[in-house]
Amino acid sequence: MAGCQNNPGKQTSDIKMNLTKELYGEVDGKEIFQFTLKNENGITVKLINYGGIVTHLLVPDKNGKTEDVVLGYDNLPQYLGDTPYFGAIVGRYGNRIAKGEFELDGTAYKLATNNGPNHLHGGVKGFDKVVWDAEEFVFPEKAGVILNYLSKDGEESYPGNLDVKVTYTLTNKNELKINYEATTDKATVVNLTHHSYFNLKGQGNGDILDHHLQLMADRYIPVDQALIPTGELREVKASAMDFTTPHSIGSRIAKVDGGYDHTWAVNDFDGKKIRLAAKVTEPKSGRMMEVYTDQPGVQFYTGNFLDGSLTGKQGKAYNKHSGFCLETQHYPDSPNQPDFPSVVLRPGEKYETGTVYKFGIEEEGNRCRGKASCMLEHSSAYSVIGDW
Ligand code: GLA
Repeated sequence: MAGCQNNPGKQTSDIKMNLTKELYGEVDGKEIFQFTLKNENGITVKLINYGGIVTHLLVPDKNGKTEDVVLGYDNLPQYLGDTPYFGAIVGRYGNRIAKGEFELDGTAYKLATNNGPNHLHGGVKGFDKVVWDAEEFVFPEKAGVILNYLSKDGEESYPGNLDVKVTYTLTNKNELKINYEATTDKATVVNLTHHSYFNLKGQGNGDILDHHLQLMADRYIPVDQALIPTGELREVKASAMDFTTPHSIGSRIAKVDGGYDHTWAVNDFDGKKIRLAAKVTEPKSGRMMEVYTDQPGVQFYTGNFLDGSLTGKQGKAYNKHSGFCLETQHYPDSPNQPDFPSVVLRPGEKYETGTVYKFGIEEEGNRCRGKASCMLEHSSAYSVIGDW
């Protein structure tokens, strides 16, 4: 469905987006393609249908100089090797399930324990390591790729055939939108997220401790030593977890054992509304990223386990804190936490959620609307899924 076949009334000249597709390699006898999406404002997104991985995200700075703001690798063999989920779609259950165990409708399920004593990010072969079917689309103001994957009943010991669709869309408003949909034929648990490691200075250009972060969250979820929630939702007030006003990421990180790797409970959760969850700015380049989601939480992870042993794109070594993740999702271990919002999906229901990473320029704390160097026109909210 390349071109504008879905929009027959439109002339090719109306198309402001560009999409190309190249063979990237092969996994399990299936072709892997790299899709390149470009908008009119100099933003380029490259993604592949292995793991749904965003391999590149090029964003201009306040002077129009473009950098690739996500960590990752240069080629498929590297992605098939050791990767801490660089740029990937994570599922069937993103984040941790204590001891890999949960009970649903009276049946006990035992998943792989691939993170110390716990289950992490869907198991040994999660959605980040599978080949997705892919179909591209181009409209005048947006272009993207629809990824499909059927996760079979019993895969990684989860119940139910789960039919998953993830749509990546780049818009001319400088948004990278991710829409997740799923249906099942047996009750199961689902929590899908995206795992890009961002560095708004450009990947490999040092650490992210000088980035400024604001989280629209009055509460976060305390965890034990193995990063499993205690069940409490704690006020962030007067602690190193308080990002209700912008703070540099590094200013209080030493007070947090191991660095930030926690879920914040984003304010104003109603299960439908897409609201601003996070805003990050990098003072020197002026690059800014806003994250909007309808999910109850956002995992803010500061690349604490990166230790320089992985060599990324252009031979750059990825040291501790060389990227941060903002993974929109349900709270960790929800299948075992009756007081957390439910992650159960039943036959006949539709799992449908959306997250938007929106890019722009902000200089010295002031939104630069109207200035020539500013490419972003601020849109304050997305009301519900489908609205975008
Ligand atoms: C998530 C987790 C981290 C870590 C990374 C991958 O963000 O919360 O603890 O496991 O994935 O390295």
